[in-house]
Amino acid sequence: MSAPNKSYDPVEVEALKPEEVERARDAALAAVAAASDLAQLQEAKVAHTGDRSPLALANREIGALPPQAKAEAGKRVGAARGAVKKALEQRQVELEAERDARVLVEEAVDVTLPWDRAPRGARHPLTTLSERIEDLFVAMGYEVAEGPQVETEWYNFDALNILPDHPARTMQDTFFVRAQDGTADSGVVLRTHTSPVQIRTMLTRTPPIYVVCPGRVYRTDELDATHTPVFGQIEGLAIDKGLTMAHLKGTLDHFVQAMFGEGIVTRLRPSYFPFTEPSAELDLKCFVCRGASVGDPEHPCRTCRSEGWIEWGGCGMVNPRVLVACGIDPEVYSGFAFGVGLERALMFRHNVEDMRDMVEGDVRFTLPFGMEI
Ligand code: DAH
Repeated sequence: MSAPNKSYDPVEVEALKPEEVERARDAALAAVAAASDLAQLQEAKVAHTGDRSPLALANREIGALPPQAKAEAGKRVGAARGAVKKALEQRQVELEAERDARVLVEEAVDVTLPWDRAPRGARHPLTTLSERIEDLFVAMGYEVAEGPQVETEWYNFDALNILPDHPARTMQDTFFVRAQDGTADSGVVLRTHTSPVQIRTMLTRTPPIYVVCPGRVYRTDELDATHTPVFGQIEGLAIDKGLTMAHLKGTLDHFVQAMFGEGIVTRLRPSYFPFTEPSAELDLKCFVCRGASVGDPEHPCRTCRSEGWIEWGGCGMVNPRVLVACGIDPEVYSGFAFGVGLERALMFRHNVEDMRDMVEGDVRFTLPFGMEI
C-alpha cells in the first residue's frame, strides 16, 4: 500500500487516475475476451481481479483517501471492477457452453457401431458330440481315459490280440512311424483305433474299471466323401466281476436312447474282432423311420437307406487273452468293450453328406451347429 496522500485529490494518486483505471479495465476486458478456454479465463481472472491486480490495488488505495475523495474514486474503480466482473461472468458462461458442446461431440458413443467385429467362430461339432457322449457315460459312473495318438505296435496290435500277420498291420492300412535311423521298423504307429487306450487303462488301474476313451485315430485312407485318414472314435470299457453280454446290451441301449431318442435300441450282429470274444457289430434302430421304410418303396428312408438299422461300431466281451496280457485274472473278472465312429455319427445324426466338410475347418460348416448338438 502506498503512503497516505498528501493531496486530497484522488486523481493525483497514480493508481486511481481515470486513465489508469480505464487502462486496467480495458486490459482486463481484452484478456477476458481473448481467453479461448476456461483455463485461460481463470488465468485472466487471477491476473486482473486477484489481490495483486491493478484494479485490486487501486481499490485498496481508496481506503487511504480523505472521505470527500472516496466517493468519486470509489465510483470510478467500482464501475471498472463491475465491468470486468460482468465480462468474466459472461465469458465463463460462453466458454462453459462451448466446452459442453465440444465434450458432447468428442465423447459421444456411437451406439450403432457394430460391437462384435472379431467373429468368435464355433466349436467343432465332432468335439461337441464327443463331449456329449463322454458326459453321458460320466453320468453312468464312467471316467474319461486318454492315450497317445502316436502309439507302439504292442499297444495298438499285440496286446489286443491282433497277431503280426493280421492285414491291419500292413502299410496298406496303417501309418508306420519311421525310426530315427531311417528304417521303417520303429515299432511305432499312428494308432488305428482307440482300443489301445483299453490296454493302457487296464495296465494302470485295478478293476472295477469303467472308462470311455475318446480320441483321434489314423488309417491310410484317401480323403473323399466317405473316408478320411484321420477320424474320431470313442471307446468304452468295463471290467468287473460278473459282467455279461446283457450288461453290454443294456449299456448300449441306454447310450443310443440318450443320443437318438426313446425306443431307439441296439442290435448286435455276430462278428469278429481279435480283442473280443464273442464279438458283435453294433447297429442302432433307424431313429428317422424306426424301421417303417423296410419293404416300403413308397417311403424310402435316406438315413438308413431303408434298412431299418444303422451300422455304427463294434463291441463284445473282452477276450480273456487281452485280460491276461494286462495282468487281469479272467477267472475273476470279465468285461465288455465297444467302439464307435464319431464322423459316422455326425453324418447320420445331422445329415452331413460329405466327410470332407468335417476336416476342412471351415467355420461356415461349424457355425450352424452352435454350442450344442
Ligand atoms: N477298434 C475297433 C475298430 O476300430 C472297434 C471296436 C470293436 C472297438 C469292438 C471295441 C470293440 O472296443 O469291442 O474297428
